[in-house]
Amino acid sequence: MVRKKAGGAGNSERPIGVFDSGIGGLTVARAIHRVLPHEDLVYLGDTARVPYGTKAPSTVVRFSCEDTNFLLRQEVKAVVVACNTASAWALPTLQREFNVPVFGVIVPGAQAALAKTKNKRIGVIGTNATIRSGAYARAILEREESAEVFAQACPLLVPLVEEGWVANEITRLTLEKYLEPFAKQRVDTLVLGCTHYPLLKRAISKVLGKQVALVDSAETCAKYVEAELSKQDLLVKQRRRPGKIQPYVTDETAPFESLSKRFIDVPLEPAVKVDVTVK
Ligand code: DGL
Repeated sequence: MVRKKAGGAGNSERPIGVFDSGIGGLTVARAIHRVLPHEDLVYLGDTARVPYGTKAPSTVVRFSCEDTNFLLRQEVKAVVVACNTASAWALPTLQREFNVPVFGVIVPGAQAALAKTKNKRIGVIGTNATIRSGAYARAILEREESAEVFAQACPLLVPLVEEGWVANEITRLTLEKYLEPFAKQRVDTLVLGCTHYPLLKRAISKVLGKQVALVDSAETCAKYVEAELSKQDLLVKQRRRPGKIQPYVTDETAPFESLSKRFIDVPLEPAVKVDVTVK
């Protein structure tokens, strides 16, 4: 495995690496770009092997190590695991194995949920693999043992969002079915534990009602990354130009280029196809 030191002169000028199983992690890249507009980002979408949310934990860990290795070869100063599934299963391994700061989405999401909830009854939605990991529940309960966490896998939501169906009848019915238990469970806060779900915020709010606070794991992760990079003196110092976002994908670039506009509203550099399994 490539091991790179994060410390040392000039490191703060390097890009931040962000990886996801595919395109959805652009919601995290967008949130980071909003909070840190002068940072360059290198984004890797493992589009050849998406989805991760249906895969076995060991597969998710292996892919995540390859993705991180690729980002380190691009000389990034830190790695953000935008994918909730990869954060849920692979974060401890990545933090142990790689010698750069590695941040995930779970802890910031858990902290934000605890800051928002009043009755300590928190719902979490995500892919099958994320929910199966119990990572959000653990992160919440480690910080507040009297909280109650209700988790629901919503595997149909990723394809609906990728189809662009964020506000139609089928999506509404699907959300009603998935979110129904939360009313009985009286949750007052719901963690959107998947890269794609920020695009469904409005539809989810319509189903649950305004009284349920939504935690956007992309936004909370971006604020966390800002705070952590600042602590570690890794924020870019003097750059005036807007940060560039360079996407890499492991499958054809064309579908990524055409879908990306749904997930991010700033221009990206042209996507480049790479093979992350080649060292
Ligand atoms: N990026 C994944 C996540 O946030 C969703 C897509 C997938 O299953 O790979 O969990």
